Amino acid sequence: MNQAVVRAAGIEDADGIAAVHVTSWRETYRGMVPDAFLENLSVARRAAQWRSSLSDPSNVYHRAWVAELNGQIVGFANYGFPQEEDEEFDGELYAIYLLKSAQGRGIGKALFTEAAKGLLALGSSSMLVWVLKENPARGFYEHLGGVYLREKPIEIGGARLMEAAYGWRELMRFRRG
Ligand SMILES: CC(C)(COP(=O)(O)OP(=O)(O)OC[C@H]1O[C@@H](n2cnc3c(N)ncnc32)[C@H](O)[C@@H]1OP(=O)(O)O)[C@@H](O)C(=O)NCCC(=O)NCCS
Repeated sequence: MNQAVVRAAGIEDADGIAAVHVTSWRETYRGMVPDAFLENLSVARRAAQWRSSLSDPSNVYHRAWVAELNGQIVGFANYGFPQEEDEEFDGELYAIYLLKSAQGRGIGKALFTEAAKGLLALGSSSMLVWVLKENPARGFYEHLGGVYLREKPIEIGGARLMEAAYGWRELMRFRRG
């Protein structure tokens, strides 16, 4: 099996990240999120958003890493300061998505570790992540030492869902990961 390459994302990766973003949403959230919302996702729209955020190096809200297999982007993670001010956590993993075909071979853990190290480099010492309550990815966060924090409602495509927060109070342990 070929080894994945994990590297910092640049503006030229916007299309590849957007394609993974949309495909992974459809693969992951079918049955959790309304079909109409998933069908309406657009790679072109996502790519434009990614291009804009990746073109601004001072934008700490969109630091991103990508994973490539055979020269094709198969996953990404992005992170920065918490989107909602938090009393306890000073970093957030905004998203981590892999194509289904690339899952289960260590790439998610590699991207997660780079996000944790990236946050340390930004001066953060802790991290939280929000995940849909029904998403089996909760097991991934728990496996990596995430502590369940709380839940809150979220509206996606007209459906009222719940999401759960997991937190890592000390990121230093990922420094050598
Ligand atoms: C969640 C996700 C990022 C994990 O990435 P991955 O590459 O499949 O996971 P890895 O192969 O790196 O697994 C790392 C470790 O976590 C464990 N693990 C992975 N997924 C798990 C799960 N759902 N439940 C419990 N443990 C899990 C693995 O067994 C592995 O353990 P090990 O290090 O002891 O061998 C990936 O499956 C994914 O993109 N899922 C769909 C999108 C999604 O839900 N993203 C999260 C949105 S909040």
